[in-house]
Amino acid sequence: MNAEKRIRVAALISGRGSNMAALMEAAQKPGCPYEIVAVVSNRPEAKGLETASAAGIATAVVDHKAFDSREAFEEVLHETLLAFGAELVACAGFMRIMTAGFVQRWEGRMLNIHPSLLPSFKGLHTHRRALEAGVRVHGATVHFVTADLDGGPIIIQGVVPVLPDDDEETLAARVLEVEHRIYPAALWQVAAGKCRLEGERVVMEGWPVDKTARLISPTPDLPESE
Ligand code: GAR
Repeated sequence: MNAEKRIRVAALISGRGSNMAALMEAAQKPGCPYEIVAVVSNRPEAKGLETASAAGIATAVVDHKAFDSREAFEEVLHETLLAFGAELVACAGFMRIMTAGFVQRWEGRMLNIHPSLLPSFKGLHTHRRALEAGVRVHGATVHFVTADLDGGPIIIQGVVPVLPDDDEETLAARVLEVEHRIYPAALWQVAAGKCRLEGERVVMEGWPVDKTARLISPTPDLPESE
């Protein structure tokens, strides 16, 4: 693939940036249809900014605290994304609620990763709430961003077992591993034009699904009969 033809992606972060790093790593693979051209954070202290700079990626801070309103913050954020020539936006641990107006400007072009199997556990503290609910499987979801918070059309989901002795930390680590696999996969397919938003539905073309895949937790095997 011609390097100049790659889709320009800006990542939005608020913190650690491990998903952003996974997207950056996948962008190095041969044939990747996207490149990360910029990382933008609403928090100046976000660790991910350092990771991006060290990798030679442009960074910017649009500090939400410097604005009187959500709209004023989003106006500058939008202009910053345009200045980087972003064609797609990947929210990667971006912890700001966005207005419908902002979301509409990026409709079908903005993705988010959420640490639960949506539509279960929208919002915060997803791992704690999964443990409290006693679910046996948990996971992560990549979806297109719409005005419906954590409710946009789903692109890909990854599932992990919940173990009897899990705490929030062990469960979060297991889910994070799957996040780092599903987010680059989703962005790749969207950038390649094999997955897109049409109305309220995600349309896939040529993205295989392993129909034999099963995760049953705990293990369902019964004892051998005599
Ligand atoms: C990730 O677990 C991501 O799914 C979550 O924040 C974490 C960011 O980690 N996002 C949300 O909760 C969005 N509502 P990272 O900065 O290491 O990618």
